[in-house]
Amino acid sequence: MRNLVEETNLSVKDLILPLFLIEGSNMIVPVNSMPGVNRFSEDTILREIESCLKLGIQAFDVFPAYPEHLKDKLASESYNPETFYLKALREIKKQFPEVCLMSDVAMDPYSSDGHDGIVQDGEILNDETLKILGRMSLAQAEAGVDIIGPSDMMDGRVGYIREELDKNGFKNTSIMSYTAKYASAFYGPFRDALDSAPKFGDKKTYQMNPANLKEALIEADLDMAEGADFLMVKPALSYLDVIKLLQENYPVPVAAYNVSGEYSMIKASAERGWIDGERAMLEVLTSIKRAGAKIILTYFAKEYAMLKN
Ligand code: PBG
Repeated sequence: MRNLVEETNLSVKDLILPLFLIEGSNMIVPVNSMPGVNRFSEDTILREIESCLKLGIQAFDVFPAYPEHLKDKLASESYNPETFYLKALREIKKQFPEVCLMSDVAMDPYSSDGHDGIVQDGEILNDETLKILGRMSLAQAEAGVDIIGPSDMMDGRVGYIREELDKNGFKNTSIMSYTAKYASAFYGPFRDALDSAPKFGDKKTYQMNPANLKEALIEADLDMAEGADFLMVKPALSYLDVIKLLQENYPVPVAAYNVSGEYSMIKASAERGWIDGERAMLEVLTSIKRAGAKIILTYFAKEYAMLKN
């Protein structure tokens, strides 16, 4: 009877699994601050995707971890067609054309400053950054990416990227905008995984203040006008009200990013026997869906899928 009246149904098909990519071969390197999460080289990421596909996961968001010597102030490696990230994206699409492949657009993995935009005299140059984000997006679309994921929070980037894509014949490549991305402590483990923490300062001049809700409406209005296909809220758990607000006010699908810190909190306390990790995972994912997210990006995707299989 409980099943009959259950209001929120979570499906493996709602989930996008974020994966971390490193250069090299035959490598699976654990992320210490994210128990159960690894960094994969191209060959091992292909095997990982294959095993996830068997479990019913069909969407993946790949993030590259770049070594320091490939970083510079302008993130030029991000659109080098021979860079290991773009090569791996091409290979994933070649071997698994049925996969829904999402990418990350932001300068931080490639930036010697560890920021999402160009830094000059301690300030972020918004408009100059757009050109780099445009080149990066185009390179990723050329590699076969289905959903471009601008996580940088520069103003005007969705419209700029949309125009670049359209001009170059990528009309069918969609954009999932990180619409309401807050300056959050919960990104800590992710920055460990990618070694991408800012070298100075913080991201508060471009990411949102956790105290603000209405500001999310301004961001969402702009993203809609600029041509976003999906709106994303990030992190998810402390921002369930933001998810609900966007879901109620916009006709496009809303996604939520259940971020690294939200994952690691559960893993760490479950390891100590302080909470039931499996139940906590189910409760968290269900609450994000209940709040109004149609799509959830989560490091729990594989564990959830294994539980359901
Ligand atoms: C950076 C980016 C971040 C995340 C995704 N893309 C971190 C940041 O903004 O510093 C965080 C994801 C997570 O914590 O799981 N462009």
